[in-house]
Amino acid sequence: MTTGRAVQSALDIGHGTVRVIIAERVEEDRIRVLGAGAAASKGLSRGIPTNIKPMILAVEEAISAAEEAAGIEVDDIHLGVSGAELACAETESHLLVTRNPQDPRSSLIQTTHLRQVLEQAEASQTVQIERQILHCLPQEFLVDGAEGVQNPVGLHGMRLDCRTHFLSVPVNTVENLKRCVQRTAVNVGSVTLTSLASSCFLSADEKELGVLLLDVGAASTDLILHADGKVCHAASVPMGGAAITSDITRAFRTPASEAERIKRSYGCCDHRLIRRDERFDIEYAGGDASERASRSQLCQVIQPRMEEILDLVERELEISNMRWMLGAGVVITGGGARLDGLLDLARDRWSLPVRLGYPRGVMGVEADPSMLEWTPAIGLAQHALRNAPISHGQKSKITLWNWVNRLRRHVAL
Ligand SMILES: Nc1ncnc2c1ncn2[C@@H]1O[C@H](COP(=O)(O)OP(=O)(O)OP(=O)(O)O)[C@@H](O)[C@H]1O
Ligand SMILES: [Mg+2]
Repeated sequence: MTTGRAVQSALDIGHGTVRVIIAERVEEDRIRVLGAGAAASKGLSRGIPTNIKPMILAVEEAISAAEEAAGIEVDDIHLGVSGAELACAETESHLLVTRNPQDPRSSLIQTTHLRQVLEQAEASQTVQIERQILHCLPQEFLVDGAEGVQNPVGLHGMRLDCRTHFLSVPVNTVENLKRCVQRTAVNVGSVTLTSLASSCFLSADEKELGVLLLDVGAASTDLILHADGKVCHAASVPMGGAAITSDITRAFRTPASEAERIKRSYGCCDHRLIRRDERFDIEYAGGDASERASRSQLCQVIQPRMEEILDLVERELEISNMRWMLGAGVVITGGGARLDGLLDLARDRWSLPVRLGYPRGVMGVEADPSMLEWTPAIGLAQHALRNAPISHGQKSKITLWNWVNRLRRHVAL
């Protein structure tokens, strides 16, 4: 990517769709989307590629489409990881701060101390060998036993304590996804938990008051909980919109593509929003002509499954014991958030404010329902531009194997 601008690319490998975003930073905290590309996801199950070849082709297709739209060639891409294998844990670490050489009676906490205490936390965390820590998020610092310190750097203190939250995923999941990307002649920049990246569209006030972000995808529903300005819990439940489609397929004896169409056009998960006489055309499997079906029958199939997904989310909230912290309510994103009635259903169940999670404040993006499924990919790009503004016109190192693949990609185009 030789643009001379702060440009980053992000990749969200979903179970339904693979999405790529190329974006640039226009202001301190504002980005503009330059290009987007998508391809149907093939060969992914529970976050793990089950068949690597179709997955590589899907990644390749999405990257090429985004490159074409942006007029920029992608060398490095920031990868999002999500799915059911996510685990989170908490640990405490402490450090005795070295004395100030000028005045041995005092000790000043510096960035190096902060780094050391976080390194200690990471080292003390007994993550199973097959897991990789994706994020190490400080929750709270204590300076000489005084609680609630947000940033200890610059304070005087003898002892620095830190409570840290770890988010980990299986190493093999990350390596397999990386391999899919590298086989398309693109290097993987950073690896980020997708829900953490999507959280950049939550406001600081929401994160302070307490908010639950739900990403209802095809195969999973990812959740992340923020309170007091920190991440308190993250998890993923292995159920999403694909389960609803498959219920419709069985209940209405219709092909999956037709089930998906009727879900998107007439689906609703709150029976209170449907009139008794609402009907629509449906093509049954093997049927010659379309027939009429009732929207309320469709809702009877969809609503229990959606409630089951919300039950699983609620169970996670109980595990984290943080249900009471959601002062700012719930934000729902991902393609599944487009299902009619979901906001009302969630609002009633939790008696909390519930809103849709659009990628807010991003130039080149409208607050349209179709953007909900792009929130994670755009969030990944924003996260990358905030944290790793590396590609100011630098071309990354490309191996011989990458060149061969790149050539193949362009010949194929
Ligand atoms: N208009 C709509 N109404 C209802 N559901 C919809 C609508 N549009 C998309 N969906 C559903 O959203 C889901 C896909 O969402 P998304 O693209 O965010 O998933 P993904 O990122 O590919 O999957 P995952 O996050 O599980 O890996 C599908 O189950 C699809 O049926
Ligand atoms: Mg997704």
